[in-house]
Amino acid sequence: MECLEWINDELKQVHDNKLFRYLTELQCGQSPEVTIGGKKYLLLASNSYLGLSVDPRVIQAAGEALEKYGTGSGGSRLVSGSSDLHRQLEEKIASFKNTESAILFSSGYLANIGTISSMVGPDDFVYSDELNHASIIDGCRLSKARLRVYRHLDLDELDSLLSKDHQSRKKLVVTDTVFSMDGDLVELQELTELCEKHNAMLMVDEAHATGVLGERGSGATEHFRVEDKVPIVMGTLSKAVGSLGGYIAGSSELIDYIRNRVRSYIFDTSLPASSLAASIKSIEIIETEKESRDHLWKMISKFKIGLTELGYNVIPSDSAIIPILTGNPEPTLQLADDLRKEGVFTPAVRPPSVAPGKCRIRTSLMSSHTEQHIEKALSAFEKVR
Ligand SMILES: Cc1ncc(COP(=O)(O)O)c(C=O)c1O
Repeated sequence: MECLEWINDELKQVHDNKLFRYLTELQCGQSPEVTIGGKKYLLLASNSYLGLSVDPRVIQAAGEALEKYGTGSGGSRLVSGSSDLHRQLEEKIASFKNTESAILFSSGYLANIGTISSMVGPDDFVYSDELNHASIIDGCRLSKARLRVYRHLDLDELDSLLSKDHQSRKKLVVTDTVFSMDGDLVELQELTELCEKHNAMLMVDEAHATGVLGERGSGATEHFRVEDKVPIVMGTLSKAVGSLGGYIAGSSELIDYIRNRVRSYIFDTSLPASSLAASIKSIEIIETEKESRDHLWKMISKFKIGLTELGYNVIPSDSAIIPILTGNPEPTLQLADDLRKEGVFTPAVRPPSVAPGKCRIRTSLMSSHTEQHIEKALSAFEKVR
């Protein structure tokens, strides 16, 4: 259609810049070995950090809920889409995150955009780490609050920005705890003190910390022992929990406020029972099976040491995300392609997911990876070096 011809110009530009995105179809679940186009590959790119999306116990729980409740939830939470499983999962999350209460969203993306934009408005200030996830950035924009982006993990800069702004306005500081593309970790103890000093609300996104950090796997708030000092804790059920959905955990008043004010909660169909039951079972497993987390950390350490010995430019990280900096799109695509030929699937990450010049191979590990998988991965990296 003539009115859409401009799209071809846009697409040509994306192609010319080697930024065109394509899908790779997996013909199986998120196991260490996956099938793509009928061939087996070692998967180094999943956020299912504890392998729970294919755990038989989780699958069984989801299957039983599917039998009992059917496929879809049939409505938004405030109309007809609220079940006993929604309540049970919210209670489970609150106890897991050690907060008074919790509320579910259909995704982490919706939790972030809806919550941020309802906590601050045009007269307020929002402070955001420059490497925060897109859903946080979009939430900040949607809020229309005055946006202050501070350098990655630079709490001194954040301190000085907080000092300068009008004292009587609401201030919201929002940050990933583990950053999705670099895999590094915010100094949460220091950050809570800073927010207290400036009477700023702190919201943390635990998407990549949940299941991976903390004795009980509850995330960075547990790891830094600041569970009672972070008023707004966001997380997702789509990564280590191996299911689908997002949540906010906090005080009862905060959760009541969200239930009454947040549009992405109010006007969205609720999660289906199979996802809820899977999440409940997964969190139960995360809390009780520390061995799985310990094994994951062993694999992370082995892989990082191996890559560094091979001379790769590994970005220092504190999580199951192990990024290898490659710079521009072309060498990144080449490396991903070479690795694929050696039987390893780990895609190239390019702008807009990362800044120009910061392309990378973002590898991520799962507790289901064995020593042999890591050795196989390292030998592929050695061959294509
Ligand atoms: C840091 C972070 N926050 C939020 C999200 C969004 O979560 P979901 O995938 O559940 O929408 C993601 C997912 O990629 C993420 O990495």
